[in-house]
Amino acid sequence: MCGIVGYVGKKDCSEVLVDALRKLEYRGYDSAGIAVFEDGKIKVAKEKGRLDDLVEKMKREGVPCGHIGVGHTRWATHGVPSATNSHPHAGGDKVTLVHNGIIENYKELKEQLISLGRVFKSETDTEVVAQLLDYNYEGDPIAAIKKTLAQVEGSFALGILFADRQGELYAVRRESPLIVGVGEDETFIASDVPAIIKYTNQYYLLEHDEIALLSENGVSFCDLEGDKIEKELKVADWNQEAAEKGGYEHYMLKEIHEQPTAVKTTITPRISHKLPCLEECGVTAETLKDINQIYIVACGTAMHAGMVGKYVIEKLARVPVVVDIASEFRYREPLINEGDLVIIISQSGETADSLAAMRLAKKMGAKTLAIVNAKGSSIAREADMLIYTHAGPEIAVASTKAYMVQISVMYLLGFLFALAKGKIDEAECMRLTEILTSVPEYLEKTINDVDKDCEDISKHLLEADSLLYIGRGLDYALSMEGSLKLKEISYIHSEAYAAGELKHGTISLITEGMPVIAVATQVSLLDKTISNIKEVKARGAVVILVCDKEIQVDCDVADYIIRIDKIEECLMPMLAAVPLQLLAYYTSVHRGNDVDKPRNLAKSVTVE
Ligand code: F6R
Repeated sequence: MCGIVGYVGKKDCSEVLVDALRKLEYRGYDSAGIAVFEDGKIKVAKEKGRLDDLVEKMKREGVPCGHIGVGHTRWATHGVPSATNSHPHAGGDKVTLVHNGIIENYKELKEQLISLGRVFKSETDTEVVAQLLDYNYEGDPIAAIKKTLAQVEGSFALGILFADRQGELYAVRRESPLIVGVGEDETFIASDVPAIIKYTNQYYLLEHDEIALLSENGVSFCDLEGDKIEKELKVADWNQEAAEKGGYEHYMLKEIHEQPTAVKTTITPRISHKLPCLEECGVTAETLKDINQIYIVACGTAMHAGMVGKYVIEKLARVPVVVDIASEFRYREPLINEGDLVIIISQSGETADSLAAMRLAKKMGAKTLAIVNAKGSSIAREADMLIYTHAGPEIAVASTKAYMVQISVMYLLGFLFALAKGKIDEAECMRLTEILTSVPEYLEKTINDVDKDCEDISKHLLEADSLLYIGRGLDYALSMEGSLKLKEISYIHSEAYAAGELKHGTISLITEGMPVIAVATQVSLLDKTISNIKEVKARGAVVILVCDKEIQVDCDVADYIIRIDKIEECLMPMLAAVPLQLLAYYTSVHRGNDVDKPRNLAKSVTVE
């Protein structure tokens, strides 16, 4: 999981590459590098660390100067982060390339190449492709790429410079994403649109085993046989500002504030005559009526959105829903029957485990429905039915607005399912849908209402070694996400627990002063949750309670209370998510962490 870029044009190539890589740092940021044709030779600069470390190094040692080149930002998979393991990698004298993905058979290939006398510099799988391509290259780039691709297994997007082809940049992909951008007198390759949006919003999506040739004559495409391919030019509906911070201190904060708009943009086109309408996405009442078992498969935050979906769909439509972690689902021989519905949720649409799980489900005869944010991504393209969430680019590694739009789609689906199954009538479905459409306004208000409280209360979490999130029902589903958010960006251990389950073991962890964040928005479960809160309070916990403004609670129940507006009980997680996101955000800020790029993480997990 890395980011690659390439440039052919009249501008200073190094500057464009570094600028484009900055927009891809969310994909990995443990080392970076560029390679540029300078005076007929390929000049490489690479460094361990952030992009700024590379920039500093180039200031000291010289910036490659030219108009054609490739760049890379890395999240290490094979070999530690180091300058040597950084891309670009040269395969000898003839080839220099950047790679995003994994070469699965790199060990066998490396042994073969070593037996042919090739000497390796790095520990990476990428250098194996570079060496193999260099070995296969006899003056015809397409023939060499074809021969190499026949030998490598795995996922990859490659940006390639051939030393004797000074005016050309080649790109090819299998599995890993790659786009080819087209500006005025300039062309680009990139792993994702934000990298090039400053320069152009027009791009082609490179498909599996397609080759792109970028030169001063523009861009052309061919297959591995060298046969020309005509492709459809796409126009990104993002502008540069959408991909940048817009005045906020961090992308995460910006993205929290973008949630009202993101939800509105996602649900509005899916409501017709006051009812959810997903026909354009291939989801009709007819399809849903016959479904008797649902699986929701995803990773991390997207899986937590699935947990909310489970509670909503089961409660309203009375259809059983199993939520599965994609990396477990794909290897546990799931009991899928023909006609079951498997819902895959993914912001990036490229998560390796989620993609593999979806392919498995399809093979087993399930109907697949993808809920995806990244347009044209692999999961989006391969699913039987597809609902795009319209969150726009999510740059912060910690997902916020993508989660919010994912759960908004869960509600649309839940309402539609319940109607299709005859569990609610049209009037009730309209009522629920109307409340959902009012959520963006409430979200706006909630963000403003709780921001200051969250910032203040977060100061009481800074020194904690560990904390608990507790809740029941939908509050428990939401707590899982609150806990993940906190730990990934604050580096404080936390765990989400079903409040009623605490006394079966975990309550022994409570010691004097341990923070417990209790979510109690489900009025029907309130008394029981309050009893559980009292149990932890009695053992010394510092309780931070998230509840609605109308609930009456004794003043000794919690140390701090964050109040949010009261809406329909089943929709409360949409509002309650906000204080949990902000508590995590401010805790991370006050601990001095890199909020948008937490350690060891990357935005798009395209490896297992
Ligand atoms: C956490 C986070 C991750 C992702 C997970 C799945 O804030 O963002 O847990 O949710 O890696 O990613 P997608 O949704 O791209 O499949």
